[in-house]
Amino acid sequence: MSESTTAPDEGGMITRSVSTEPPLLSCRNVTKQFSVAGGHITAVDDVSLDFPEASVLAVVGESGSGKSTLARMLLRLMPVTSGTITFRDQDVTNLRGAELRRYWSEVQAVFQDPFSSFNQFFTVGSLLRRSLKLAQVGKDEVDALIEECLGYVGLTPKEALHKYPHQLSGGQRQRVMVARALMMRPKVLLADEATSMLDATLRVNVLNVLHDLRAELGLTVLFITHDIGQATYLADRVAVMEHGKVVERGSTEEVIFSPQAEYTKRLLADVPDLRGSLKPRA
Ligand SMILES: Nc1ncnc2c1ncn2[C@@H]1O[C@H](COP(=O)(O)OP(=O)(O)OP(=O)(O)O)[C@@H](O)[C@H]1O
Ligand SMILES: [Mg+2]
Repeated sequence: MSESTTAPDEGGMITRSVSTEPPLLSCRNVTKQFSVAGGHITAVDDVSLDFPEASVLAVVGESGSGKSTLARMLLRLMPVTSGTITFRDQDVTNLRGAELRRYWSEVQAVFQDPFSSFNQFFTVGSLLRRSLKLAQVGKDEVDALIEECLGYVGLTPKEALHKYPHQLSGGQRQRVMVARALMMRPKVLLADEATSMLDATLRVNVLNVLHDLRAELGLTVLFITHDIGQATYLADRVAVMEHGKVVERGSTEEVIFSPQAEYTKRLLADVPDLRGSLKPRA
């Protein structure tokens, strides 16, 4: 269900087709200030967003617009300066200890450079087993879980488990990272520029994996990118960030076919033909 309005709200943000489903994850008035020489900068400025269950929301914006800072706060890797983060109706802004660890198992992330997350001296198999050991998954479940999660990202154990990171392609490495995140059986997968370093074919491959996971596992995906083309390929809904603020949000169709904010129009002007890229596979 959704209700529509195209009027800017009191903060000047343009909002359309707001989902009326209760969100799985949401943030309200989240702000992050960093102290820098001579004062502070506001990297994220009063951002409120909802992530309904089994939806794909893209956050787009140019470099420095605050996307990763917002992601780190949502992941609870960095404290908010002000505002609230809610998961399943629970305020998680200040969770600690075992409760925070439980939150981390439900909200998993995949970042830009899979090489930096790999230890070069471990095979993919030992990397995945170590993650499961840390998560205290029973020995008898480990192999089945690894096989299941590699399956979600289109890899067989034979293809992946005995390989070292440098023996995989960039796309395969990124898919292994997605598989590792899925082993925790998360509800939310946050991908911060997870496909930015891949060439076009591998990128589409990983985008299709993320797309299918929503259907197969009911996963909620938060896809962060500076590339509005990738956002429209994958997402149901798009939020556009400029200088720490969300300046526009709505369904993907609304945002790309009738952008309202000048900033969104500029981002779209750099990508000539998006109509052909709407929605991966039928
Ligand atoms: N730890 C920090 N200390 C000081 N300033 C920071 C810190 N982290 C980020 N910033 C600043 O906050 C702003 C937003 O940075 P952020 O990394 O969130 O942008 P981004 O949208 O993810 O950019 P990119 O597309 O390049 O990844 C930038 O001006 C950045 O310099
Ligand atoms: Mg970033």
